[in-house]
Amino acid sequence: MQHLLTLEDWSAEQIAEAIATARHIKAHPEQYADSLRRKTLCMIFEKPSLRTRLSFEAGMNQMGGHAIYYDMSTSPLNSGKESIADTVRTTCRYVDIIMARLYKHEDLLEMARYTTVPLINALTNYSHPGQVLADLQTVEEHKGSLAGLKLAYLGDSFNNVTHSLMFACPKMGMHLSIGCPPGDEYEPSPAARAAAEADAARNNVTFQLTNDAQAAIQDADVVYTDSWMSYHIPKEQEAARREIFGPYQVTAQLMARAKPKAVFMNCLPALRGMEQTAEVIDGPQSIVFDQAENRMHMHKSLMLILLRAAGKIKG
Ligand code: CP
Ligand code: NVA
Repeated sequence: MQHLLTLEDWSAEQIAEAIATARHIKAHPEQYADSLRRKTLCMIFEKPSLRTRLSFEAGMNQMGGHAIYYDMSTSPLNSGKESIADTVRTTCRYVDIIMARLYKHEDLLEMARYTTVPLINALTNYSHPGQVLADLQTVEEHKGSLAGLKLAYLGDSFNNVTHSLMFACPKMGMHLSIGCPPGDEYEPSPAARAAAEADAARNNVTFQLTNDAQAAIQDADVVYTDSWMSYHIPKEQEAARREIFGPYQVTAQLMARAKPKAVFMNCLPALRGMEQTAEVIDGPQSIVFDQAENRMHMHKSLMLILLRAAGKIKG
């Protein structure tokens, strides 16, 4: 059974196929209007969401299927009355595909052990693969191709989006540079670092991890940042994190060090005056709403690919 748990598990060919399929669906949505007819998606949410929830639900609807929103706070699992194993084994008896947004990545891996239908990681504290697939689609649309581009990520890097960029960019032949504060709490996990280093060496591209924001962004084609206050970070850390991440805020001054045609990305939600200034996110280089739109095309692509691989639809 093929799942999407992290992009570490996916090959460059699989990533390219997901992007090409998403672009085809985006260009010809009418050709896919019945592709998931009568299929049911269960969407398990432990955390808030705007984009992921709406794009999966609208995408499933547009392809002829149905999506069920399942709020974990109302589940027997949440109140300690049921295990992950029994929750998943039951859910699989009703639905064709599951997506889950969870705190702990280990819980997602536990779900994967028991599911008999495809499982999509819709964000854990460790990775956010569907986001980065949609992001690479967006970069390809704006820049023509991925290979040889430099993506610079600035800010919180012990972070699901950063990890997913690390699993995907060097694998796709992109140079990747990360600028973040020193310390295990702010730097990427060793596993993501090892994967990025190995893929970069294999594909003859650079992978740089630095505490110097200016060095990280220099000559970048794509500048990316994410929230300093991810969903799982307690509110009481906000003041300290503002101070720590301050030098990595993407300002117009910092953007000027990237290539003149560089694009600015943020997976959203974003706060102006935190990880970037309003001038940057609302400026002409920003492509954040193209990213957000592509979440839907990519989710359609992923459901199609995984349901085909599971033999649940033809084609
Ligand atoms: N980027 C993203 O996953 O947004 P949501 O948290 O709104 O789903
Ligand atoms: N790193 C962010 C991504 C939100 C889509 C978080 O985990 O909250």
